[in-house]
Amino acid sequence: MTSLLKRLPPSAIALLLQVSAFVLTVLILSLLDLHPAPLGFALICGILASSLSYIAGLVRWWWFIQFAFVPALVLMLMLNIPPSLFLAAFLILLAVYWSTFRTQVPLYLSSNKVWLALETQIPVEQPFIFIDLGSGIGGVLLHLARTHPHGSYHGVEAAPLPFLWSWLHIKFGGYRNCTVHWGSLWNCDLSEYDVVFAYLSPVPMERLWLKAKQEMLHGSLFISNTFAVPDHSPQNTLAVDDLHHSTLHLWRM
Ligand SMILES: C[S@@+](CC[C@H](N)C(=O)[O-])C[C@H]1O[C@@H](n2cnc3c(N)ncnc32)[C@H](O)[C@@H]1O
Repeated sequence: MTSLLKRLPPSAIALLLQVSAFVLTVLILSLLDLHPAPLGFALICGILASSLSYIAGLVRWWWFIQFAFVPALVLMLMLNIPPSLFLAAFLILLAVYWSTFRTQVPLYLSSNKVWLALETQIPVEQPFIFIDLGSGIGGVLLHLARTHPHGSYHGVEAAPLPFLWSWLHIKFGGYRNCTVHWGSLWNCDLSEYDVVFAYLSPVPMERLWLKAKQEMLHGSLFISNTFAVPDHSPQNTLAVDDLHHSTLHLWRM
């Protein structure tokens, strides 16, 4: 049972725990013959879901989400907001975050200072090919394509809305040395690139490292923004003085 739980993404575990908390709340209240108001019921659900999440070992921020989930649902229902608004909000969030529940890599953007730090790592004069794995709204690519036009820049992005945003930006911004495609980074052949850049999360780093080792050519450069590879120290690191205290981890393959 525990090993089955460990194989599930945290979002699926959180959902299972919410359902368990709901069933437990119904059982406890019927055993005690109590009939609280909807918000009281929701708060008991929240407390139980949060406690179960703590016991199940979910990381801290899940405890708060789990506590607030059912009370927020009840409060929203009390406000009588038209269901179409929820549907619209859900569809927008889906288009932005897409399969984050599975990949555990949400959209957040490299800072302008990271863009500037990357400028110091790419070849100065000779042509080169650069890829941003999970290119988001294309900030890194567009910046480098403007400042270092002798390079060729490619991005791959899984979430539809960020992809579409960057695609439109490239198409109507007249960027000839830049492309993005909608798809999974796991289907990219990294042997085609001189510089591979990734800003993902701790979760895929081990698998990405294996892919990079297998596919990247000798002498090419692998750069990870912020997230290190477990048990494989970078040859070089570059601290960036931005709000997130980003660090570029660099490996010459
Ligand atoms: C932290 S953001 C980085 C955005 C951009 N590279 C930057 O530095 O500003 C990570 C992006 O990777 C995308 N992503 C996550 N898993 C992916 C996958 N398997 N294939 C393609 N894109 C993925 C997410 O949708 C998200 O937009």
